[in-house]
Amino acid sequence: MSTLLLDRPELYEAWFPDPDATAARFVADVAVRFGAPGERLLDAGCGTGRDAAALAARGWTASALDLAPAMVEHVRRHHRAVDAHQGDLRTLDLGRAFDVVSCLDSTLLALHDTADLLAALRRVAAHLVPGGLFVAEMRNGAFLLTAAAHRDLLGGETERVRTHDGVAYTARTLLAVDHAAQLLRRRRTWTWPGGEHTEHTAWRLLFPRELTDLLDRAGFDVLALFDTPGPRTDEPWHPDAALGTALTRDRLHVVARRRDLEETS
Ligand SMILES: C[S@@+](CC[C@H](N)C(=O)[O-])C[C@H]1O[C@@H](n2cnc3c(N)ncnc32)[C@H](O)[C@@H]1O
Repeated sequence: MSTLLLDRPELYEAWFPDPDATAARFVADVAVRFGAPGERLLDAGCGTGRDAAALAARGWTASALDLAPAMVEHVRRHHRAVDAHQGDLRTLDLGRAFDVVSCLDSTLLALHDTADLLAALRRVAAHLVPGGLFVAEMRNGAFLLTAAAHRDLLGGETERVRTHDGVAYTARTLLAVDHAAQLLRRRRTWTWPGGEHTEHTAWRLLFPRELTDLLDRAGFDVLALFDTPGPRTDEPWHPDAALGTALTRDRLHVVARRRDLEETS
């Protein structure tokens, strides 16, 4: 999958600013709250590497993985404290284990087939020490397949304009749910002076129970599954906040612990 933002990391950060490193703070707070065994982290689907870099600045030993070559190059150029790798979650093989693997902003849902999701989660488990934590954030299938989602999110094309490096970029975005395939499909048309580009992207929609079952099959115990608060929810993330377990909102956050090998087999 190639999109304008994945090819242009600086524009990605301008488009999705996170000036307070909310996503990195979320990972760090969750790791403490759920007893991560240490501070060696792999950010899987790291994008620009800003979350891994923010964690490195807090004392973590941070590694990062992404499929998009431009993103990995950006991490290597801008975040020297982060050990960056280009690769696919489904075939991840770094030859070492971490205390925490994070996977934020629906990275996991770029995998549409159940077999691919399971392969990726098994590779994640293989890169965690026993007791290590998988911390993930993604769109919530249980919300997106409701009437509320159709009212609040899927109601029609939206338009957003942002100026970056003196160039005004306009994105017209249409989201739609493909119920049969359990995919959230996005058509986005970019225009800027002298250019136009249309891209089609999709994310798998997982129900909470499907996610829990996949994690179980990959060798994890789910410690928490909550819709709010999180790094991208209306209710801002707070380390001591009660976790919303109704799972009726747009985002799903999961914390899962890798079982001991004897328990997994
Ligand atoms: C929405 S971005 C999230 C980036 C970053 N984690 C954040 O929260 O800002 C999803 C990232 O996942 C990466 N990605 C998608 N499929 C992947 C795969 N199979 N293996 C590794 N990375 C993948 C994309 O290249 C992209 O950088």
